Amino acid sequence: MHGLTRTADGALALGDRPLAGLLRDAGAPTPAYVYDLDAMAAGAADTRAALGSDRHLLAYAVKANTAGSVVRTLAQQGAGADVVSRGELEVALAAGVPPARIVMSGVGKSRDDLDLAIGHGIRAIQLESVEEAARVAARARALGRVGRVSLRINPGLEVDTHAHVATGHDEAKFGIALADVAAAWAAVDASPELVAVGVSTHVGSMLTEPEPYVVAGRVACGVARARLASGGRLELVDLGGGFGIDYGGRPAVAPARFVEAALGLLQAEGLDALSLVVEPGRALVAPHGVLVASTLQTKTSGARRWLVIDAGMNDLVRPALYGAKHRVEPVDRLPGGAPWRVVGPVCESADDFGEHPLGDPAPEAVVLRDAGAYGFTMASEYNGRPLPAEIFVADGAVKSVSRSPGLERWVESRLRA
Ligand code: LLP
Repeated sequence: MHGLTRTADGALALGDRPLAGLLRDAGAPTPAYVYDLDAMAAGAADTRAALGSDRHLLAYAVKANTAGSVVRTLAQQGAGADVVSRGELEVALAAGVPPARIVMSGVGKSRDDLDLAIGHGIRAIQLESVEEAARVAARARALGRVGRVSLRINPGLEVDTHAHVATGHDEAKFGIALADVAAAWAAVDASPELVAVGVSTHVGSMLTEPEPYVVAGRVACGVARARLASGGRLELVDLGGGFGIDYGGRPAVAPARFVEAALGLLQAEGLDALSLVVEPGRALVAPHGVLVASTLQTKTSGARRWLVIDAGMNDLVRPALYGAKHRVEPVDRLPGGAPWRVVGPVCESADDFGEHPLGDPAPEAVVLRDAGAYGFTMASEYNGRPLPAEIFVADGAVKSVSRSPGLERWVESRLRA
């Protein structure tokens, strides 16, 4: 059994094990991320099953959660990886993802990024500009290798999501505008070191239903069909990630529904002989991680009651950065009762996790839910706060713990600077 549940007396549990017991076993103080590897594996297996054939690729967007245990768990379910840097590529390779299941996207790839990607012959380096073709070709030539490239198209569409995570509109820095596609193919075809393998797109994050995914995908498919019609060869169409989840406010369809819609699109476009690549990050990991925090202080000012916890915006920046809402719940009892305004200790007004019904007396420990994606990976040491710990749970037990680097190391590193 897996997933975040409640025991009969209302305490939070992962599978059958109360969270408080798992934290004690881990021996890691709060703030700490706790991840349910079994639930991640089950979700990846469902998404892979929806893809059906092995020809298609579930390329997990590693930026969502770079932990080796997470990437290994997903790789064991047959997932590949979408990476944005040499660092992420090294993690994916070391976690057992074969190069043929790795794609690299990113609007500014460094020489190091490209050299490792070309050296391993990954499935596709997604070109984000006409100019980039020449850079990839030059690195391939220097290495005596061939670069497998796809064109990342910017379909010029607005999608209904937060402006910071919308990537497929005219003013976004990402991808190649449709007007430049011919020049991009010409640049690829002019370079003997490059092989054109596909067309890709990624229009943004937190789509709650497949329609905008399909609308953007249709534009990418149009580019692929035109390429094939002009005698070009292609292996894949990559429709990107962006599968949303329900953070407690707005329901989102399951990842398998996005996959089914994408497969339907390829068929309708007559491209079903190609491989479909999808790149979900958040949907595979966000619901299966929580950030556990302890109460540092309660505070009453006027009519408002504040609960100051030991996790701050440096540990989970999504609320401060995007106005994201993460449900906050007591660890040892059901949510409900009097509201508390939950804030962190960081010296910024944006260090605010919102108002939640936590009841009286104030809980000693809380979880911030759905923190398995873009939580730890976006954490910082702002305000002299060392990075949080990470606890990995499988089969109802703590499988491993990545401890916080700790305060001493932080102080030392600052004094060295
Ligand atoms: N593929 C590409 C090329 C991407 O840039 C991204 C995410 C993904 C796939 C995965 O998207 P997902 O399925 O996770 O939505 N930090 C923000 C999200 C930024 C997403 C950046 N790119 C957040 O916390 O909401």
